[in-house]
Amino acid sequence: MSRIKDINLAPAGETKINWVERNMPVLKGIGADFAESRPFEGLKIALSVHLEAKTAYLCRVLEMGGAQMYVTGSNPLSTQDDVAAALAAGGMEVFASYGCSMEEYEDCLCKVLEAGPNIIIDDGGDLVHLMHTRYTSLIPQVLGGCEETTTGIHRLKAMAKEGSLRFPMVMVNEADCKHMFDNRYGTGQSVWDGINRTTNLIVAGKYVVVSGYGWCGKGVSLRAKGLGAKVIVTETDPVRALEAVMDGYEVMPMAKAAALGDIFITVTGCSGVITKEHFEVMKEGAILTNAGHFDVEVDMAGLEKLAVSKYEARHNIEGYVLPGGKTLFAIAQGRLVNLAAGDGHPAEIMDMSFAVQALSAEYLAEHRGELQPGVIPVPRDLDEAVARRKLKAMDVEIDSLSLEQRDYLGV
Ligand SMILES: NC(=O)c1ccc[n+]([C@@H]2O[C@H](COP(=O)([O-])OP(=O)(O)OC[C@H]3O[C@@H](n4cnc5c(N)ncnc54)[C@H](O)[C@@H]3O)[C@@H](O)[C@H]2O)c1
Repeated sequence: MSRIKDINLAPAGETKINWVERNMPVLKGIGADFAESRPFEGLKIALSVHLEAKTAYLCRVLEMGGAQMYVTGSNPLSTQDDVAAALAAGGMEVFASYGCSMEEYEDCLCKVLEAGPNIIIDDGGDLVHLMHTRYTSLIPQVLGGCEETTTGIHRLKAMAKEGSLRFPMVMVNEADCKHMFDNRYGTGQSVWDGINRTTNLIVAGKYVVVSGYGWCGKGVSLRAKGLGAKVIVTETDPVRALEAVMDGYEVMPMAKAAALGDIFITVTGCSGVITKEHFEVMKEGAILTNAGHFDVEVDMAGLEKLAVSKYEARHNIEGYVLPGGKTLFAIAQGRLVNLAAGDGHPAEIMDMSFAVQALSAEYLAEHRGELQPGVIPVPRDLDEAVARRKLKAMDVEIDSLSLEQRDYLGV
C-alpha cells in the first residue's frame, strides 16, 4: 500500500510525466522494446532515485518490461508529491513525500526493501547500505543492482574493497553516456536553473566559487562563465586544478576564495569543504549552495551554531545572521540545489542516464546467476548502444570504419 502525500495531486504529476516522455525518446524506445521482450517478468525492482518526473518515467519503462516496482526518493527535499501521486494512482507501490523527516525518509527506504526486491536501483548508496545492515536475510534473492551517482560508487567501491559487497552492482555513473553528459551538461545547466529561479538575482559580474573541478564542477563552471560570472575554482587534485587553470579560471584555496565569492557552489562529493573559518571571512550577503550528493559539503550545522539568528529570506533561502550583523544565505538547507530547489536535470540528459539504468537492469536480469558480487562496469556495447540511439533520435548520422580502417587501427 503506497504512502504518499495526496493522491489528488496525480493529474498535475501526470502532466509533468507526459512532458518528459515527449523529451526522452531513447527511454521511450527502450520501453517499447521492453514491452515486447518483458525482461523483468516476475521480478521486483526497488528504486531509490530523486523522485521527479524523469524518474517516474523510468519507473514506467521498467514496469513495461514486466517489473513490479517499489519506489522511493533519494532525498527528502527532492521528492515531488504530484509525481509520486501519479505513479501511485497508476497502481505502483510508492513511498515518498516532500520534506519528510530523516526518520520517515529511512522508513520509506525500508518499505521498498521489505518487498524483497530482485534488482535494486540506487542513487547515493542508501538502499544498498540498508540491505547490508538491516535486511541481510533478503540478500540471497537479489540478482544485483545499479548505482546512479559518483558518491554511491565511492561507497560501493569501499565495500567491495573490504569484501563486504554481497551482490553485483553496475556502476551506471561510470558509463560515458552518463557522467560525460549528466554530470557535466546536466548539472551545469540545472544547478544554475535552481540558483536562478530561487534567488532571482543576476550572475553576471559576480564572483562565483566552484569547489571541485570534476565532471560536475566543469559543467557548473562553464555555465557560470556563460552567464558572465568571474569564476574561481577550488580543488585538491593537482591535475584537475591545472585543468581549471588552463580552462581559464582562477584557482586558489578556499581560505582565499572565501573572502571573494558572491555565490559558492560545492560539488566535490567530500565533506566539510566550507566551514566556520570560511563563513567568518565571507562578504555580507554571500550565497551558499551545494550540488554534491550529500548535505555535508557546506557545514550547515556549523553555520547554525555560529549564527545568532535565522530567518526565511525567500522560499528555499534561509538567512543566517552572524555575530556582528553579517548575513549569509543558504539555499535549500545545503542540499542538492538543482533537485531541492529545481526540477533536476533536463529531460534530454536524463534520457541517456536512465537509458543506461534501464539497459543495465536488463543486463542484470539477462545474466542472472552469472555475475560475481562486486562492482561491475557498464558493458561498452551497452554504452555505445545508448549513444547510437541518442544520435538517431537527434537525427545525427556518423561515419563507420571501413574494413581497411579497422585493420589500420587494429580494431
Ligand atoms: N547535483 C546533481 O545533480 C549531481 C549529478 C551528478 C553527480 N552529483 C554529485 O556531485 C558530486 C561530484 O560528482 P563528480 O561526478 O563531479 O565527481 P568527480 O569525482 O568527477 O569530481 C569531484 C572533484 O572534487 C574534488 N574535491 C574533492 N574534495 C575536495 C575538496 N575538499 N575541495 C575541493 N575539491 C575537492 C576532487 O579532486 C574532484 O576533482 C558527487 O557527490 C556526485 O554524487 C550531483
